[in-house]
Amino acid sequence: MRTNVINTIPEYLELRKSFSNKTVGFVPTMGALHEGHAELLRRARAENDIVICSIFVNPTQFNNAEDLEKYPRTLNNDLDLVSHLRTDYLFCPEFNEMYPDKYLYKIEEKEFSKRLCGFHRPGHFDGVLTVVMKLFNIIKPTHAYFGEKDYQQLSLIEGMVHAFFMDLKIVRVPTIRNSNGLALSSRNTRLSTQGIKKAEIFANILNQPKKTIEDIKKELTHENIEIEYVESYGSRRLAAVWIEGVRLIDNV
Ligand code: PAF
Repeated sequence: MRTNVINTIPEYLELRKSFSNKTVGFVPTMGALHEGHAELLRRARAENDIVICSIFVNPTQFNNAEDLEKYPRTLNNDLDLVSHLRTDYLFCPEFNEMYPDKYLYKIEEKEFSKRLCGFHRPGHFDGVLTVVMKLFNIIKPTHAYFGEKDYQQLSLIEGMVHAFFMDLKIVRVPTIRNSNGLALSSRNTRLSTQGIKKAEIFANILNQPKKTIEDIKKELTHENIEIEYVESYGSRRLAAVWIEGVRLIDNV
């Protein structure tokens, strides 16, 4: 069965009335779906009566116009994948539908969102939290699924749900990696074969628990990998690097 595509909020809200006693599992995405998203959708399918995926390339979380423009858009393939995974509905709104206020209102976290990725991409997490809040208010999921690959994003969303007494459960799903250890990401599609090899080297260098941050940085530099940051946070080690002009993040 083909997944039903919904483009407008009124259309979805009408439908939502019929799910009132059901569990609704939600997987928000920006499209260019891969096996990492598939895992989130499988979990949602296994744990809920209704499964909804959204695709919205959210401009307010991009602090770089070129990055937004180059973000991969593969709607037909995405629709095949969500249909294959028995997703009930795909919500694909336009900018004006999501931002009737033209982003005059936003959600901001004042500490952790300013560190790591947030330090290097000012305003990024304001955009993420704002769009996720909007999506939660529209979709009204009982469960929402996020990958640990975007660890800082996941922690901030959990914090927002707690801070605003939001009535849903955030489900953490472990990072999916290829057979050489590279974390799956929509951005990987922008890398050449050579670039993928380098990205795999990045993942393997980062995943050496006994090495210090300084050692990790030295090894990355030795491989000519441009470092944005490598830092520890709690029991995690997180990093962002640039390969062939593509920004990649990972954490172990
Ligand atoms: O992780 C993503 O794809 C995005 O940041 C999200 C959560 C869909 C918000 O736009």
